[in-house]
Amino acid sequence: MLQTSELAIKRPRPVDPGEFRSAMGDMPGAVTVITSWGPDGAPSGATLSAVVSLSLDPPQMLACFDHGSNTLAAIQSHGRFLVHVLAHGQQSVAMKFSGKAADKFNGVEWEADVFALPRIDGCVVAVACELDKIIAFGDHKIVIGRVVDIERAGELNPMVYARRKMLPFENDGANQ
Ligand SMILES: Cc1cc2nc3c(=O)[nH]c(=O)nc-3n(C[C@H](O)[C@H](O)[C@H](O)COP(=O)(O)O)c2cc1C
Repeated sequence: MLQTSELAIKRPRPVDPGEFRSAMGDMPGAVTVITSWGPDGAPSGATLSAVVSLSLDPPQMLACFDHGSNTLAAIQSHGRFLVHVLAHGQQSVAMKFSGKAADKFNGVEWEADVFALPRIDGCVVAVACELDKIIAFGDHKIVIGRVVDIERAGELNPMVYARRKMLPFENDGANQ
């Protein structure tokens, strides 16, 4: 029998952030915009793809923010946030909220939701969360929120982000 010592096992190597980013481009995911209220009383929002469900019972979501995100600071101060899953056709919204402009909400249709959180119109799903925990990890902070409300627009299709492209998610229309 072959011993592990006889196998040509590859050594761990330092992985360049650019190579890692490109490789993660091969992992398709949803495009979200997360909104909250900033300490200055202005709405804040950022485009994020590093967002997943964490737990079903209790229902929790997890989002990974760059340390320098203004929206992260807003969530820390406000304590609640709204995760929007963008629909195909909302590419311009995704691009707008991936910038740093102070007036990102200008020209975007939005209103206050039941918790007075800034809710952008035309999204597939909006999940309201109460901040549970923030954990610093590497160059990002993991934000964990407890889900306190969900609104779905079943007729819309989400968009999928892969290889730096925002693509339509095609299905037979039988949303559940
Ligand atoms: C498709 C896409 C996905 C992104 N995903 C993330 C992410 O998961 N986490 C993150 O911190 N920034 C992500 N960004 C970058 C932020 O949107 C960007 O840094 C933004 O300017 C943050 O805004 P803020 O500082 O107002 O919060 C993404 C950008 C794009 C276009």
